[in-house]
Amino acid sequence: MIKIKRCLIVGCGATGVRVAARAVAAGYRVDAIVQSAASARRARAIGAYAQAIDLDQADFDVAPTERFFYFAPPPRNGRTDSRLARVLKRLNTDTKPRATVYISTAGVYGDTGGDWVDENARLAPGTDRAVRRVDAEQQVKAFDHNARILRAPGIYGPGRLPIAAIRAGEPILADAEAGWRNRIHVDDLAEIAWRASAADWPPGVINASDGHPSSLGDYYDAIADMLGVPAVPRIGWAEAEQRFSAMRLSFLRESRRLDNRCLVAALGREPRYANFRQGLAASLPAEV
Ligand SMILES: NC(=O)c1ccc[n+]([C@@H]2O[C@H](COP(=O)([O-])OP(=O)(O)OC[C@H]3O[C@@H](n4cnc5c(N)ncnc54)[C@H](OP(=O)(O)O)[C@@H]3O)[C@@H](O)[C@H]2O)c1
Repeated sequence: MIKIKRCLIVGCGATGVRVAARAVAAGYRVDAIVQSAASARRARAIGAYAQAIDLDQADFDVAPTERFFYFAPPPRNGRTDSRLARVLKRLNTDTKPRATVYISTAGVYGDTGGDWVDENARLAPGTDRAVRRVDAEQQVKAFDHNARILRAPGIYGPGRLPIAAIRAGEPILADAEAGWRNRIHVDDLAEIAWRASAADWPPGVINASDGHPSSLGDYYDAIADMLGVPAVPRIGWAEAEQRFSAMRLSFLRESRRLDNRCLVAALGREPRYANFRQGLAASLPAEV
């Protein structure tokens, strides 16, 4: 009898669909969970068996799987990830996955005042959003002691650049006040997540960052330059507090530089897009 290799991707969005494509190509039956019908159609188009449900509301079953990827964000409120808890409860059977891959965020480190942070750094979540991520990491570790936890910084790629804001000349916070930013291209994150589900990937936490932190202004200026439009104006904190959402301000209040040496060792190379300048060229829409 031919054994079917199975993979489950909960939260099969931008990163998930790229992992799904790799899994399908490797001969896996891919079960994908998303919230919207549009995302379910996108996952089906690359060969996944997708269902659109609300993990907070629906009663659902999850099939036993060999490779388990959890990429859905925690709920918007509270200090725990109740959404993840519901999924793990259903998977917590005798036939546990052989590999669990969870995408967390570098927000769990909080603000380091721009200092470099490796995976041994003390966790200092500065928002409830980050507290929920710490809870999620703990749940994943309790579920699978060998889980692979990827702490991602800002994910960029096609469809995820601030092109409209730059064309509209919307201001950003001045570099002196905005601190360091870290990024990973969505294609690299998907490749890292897929590789992390293999037996030879080290268990535990890894910073899934390109390892080349930069200022906010450098990033926006590079995109403006590629678009052939003027650089956007800069503003200080006082004006930013008037104009920006609470969530955007919470990101801007934190500055850190992510050390990615563990990632490079596990991958055996740098990410394909080792800095945002390389990655931007592969992210702009064709008509630009
Ligand atoms: N944005 C960043 O820069 C950043 C930085 C660090 C970490 N992260 C985290 O990294 C992970 C992967 O990122 P990504 O960009 O691939 O995320 P994404 O494209 O937003 O994908 C998240 C997926 O979760 C699904 N989902 C959300 N709530 C759900 C619910 N209640 N029930 C069922 N499905 C639900 C979404 O469904 P639909 O597609 O139908 O909406 C989507 O498919 C996410 O947890 C994200 O929060 C993001």
